[in-house]
Amino acid sequence: MDTLDRLFAKIEGGQDLDISDLVCLLLLEDNDALQRLYALADRIRKKYVGDEVHLRGLIEFSNYCRKNCAYCGIRRGNRKVRRYRMEIEEIVAVAVAAAGLGYRTVVLQSGEDSWYTADKIVNLIRRIKMSVNLAITLSIGERSKEEYRRFFEAGAERYLLRFETSNRDLYARLHPDSSYNRRLECLAWLREIGYQVGSGVMVGLPGQTVSDLAADLMMFRQLDLDMVGLGPYICHPDTPLAGSPGGTVEMTFKMLALTRIVTRNTHIPATTALATLRPENGREQALRLGANVIMPNITPLQYREHYQIYPGKICLQGLSEKYTASLEERLRSIGRFVSRSYGHSVKAQAKNCFFNATNGE
Ligand code: 5AD
Ligand code: SF4
Repeated sequence: MDTLDRLFAKIEGGQDLDISDLVCLLLLEDNDALQRLYALADRIRKKYVGDEVHLRGLIEFSNYCRKNCAYCGIRRGNRKVRRYRMEIEEIVAVAVAAAGLGYRTVVLQSGEDSWYTADKIVNLIRRIKMSVNLAITLSIGERSKEEYRRFFEAGAERYLLRFETSNRDLYARLHPDSSYNRRLECLAWLREIGYQVGSGVMVGLPGQTVSDLAADLMMFRQLDLDMVGLGPYICHPDTPLAGSPGGTVEMTFKMLALTRIVTRNTHIPATTALATLRPENGREQALRLGANVIMPNITPLQYREHYQIYPGKICLQGLSEKYTASLEERLRSIGRFVSRSYGHSVKAQAKNCFFNATNGE
């Protein structure tokens, strides 16, 4: 049996891949072998999370950020960005409209913006929960454990915080004002408090190696994540990394498929960054090799163009019936359908976890 057959047999037999297996699979170039890998990931996706696709409406409510991550277009050092903040009322109104269109989850995302004090965020969560029956995912960066606890108690069920790369040195080079240990500590707090936790990385960061990516995959398993988001790094010209090559669609596909294989029952979005590099079919392809979530952008149009963490970010108008109807149609054509449930963590449900407010449907 050659190495590849041995690795595929290992996956099919339900055995865990080790880091050298992952490096070997990430280095695959042969098209037949890749198709075999993708088909396996697709089967595992079907077995563990089914054919339903969860929609999460993404509201980018502020592009102010106190951090200066080297890769990010809205880093505080970028003076070209027109900064905006949405009022609490305005954010609630978007969430209400999203619920009206059938969304069951909103993702509240922003730069690290301390203008939104813990009190304001708590108020925002409560207001949404009082108005509509939506699950709430927060993606607002590093906060104190106490704040995370308050947000959870107010009703937020999920939190997204990517660790970006498991290579500590690379992490340090890219993040002048945060530390890898702190990041992991935040993730541990979120888990301890009871959130469904999402994390992830960028693929193709300058200086990142295939071994780093394999270590990222090991880390997904180790952190026992509920959600894993990953997309290609896309170079932004107004950052210190201007001119660097970005991640490729091919490597991102391999990472996606392997994330499904390694983590089995996590929620994995077909990310916007991937769709930006391959607008024709990036999302559909991702859904066919492991992904089971789409995060349509429902930020009001007047703000959306200013949330350019990378250039050319595609702007699908997620807040319209026309969009959701055409999405349903496209999903049907690949044998998938839009989920009507909240799409809580499969992992947490398997562990019979308690969900506040939107009880485990
Ligand atoms: N290219 C791709 N992804 C990026 N992110 C930030 N900047 C870029 C970029 N230039 C990702 C980070 C962050 C998420 C919100 O967006 O992974 O966690
Ligand atoms: Fe801020 Fe997030 Fe961009 Fe870093 S990646 S600069 S924390 S918005």
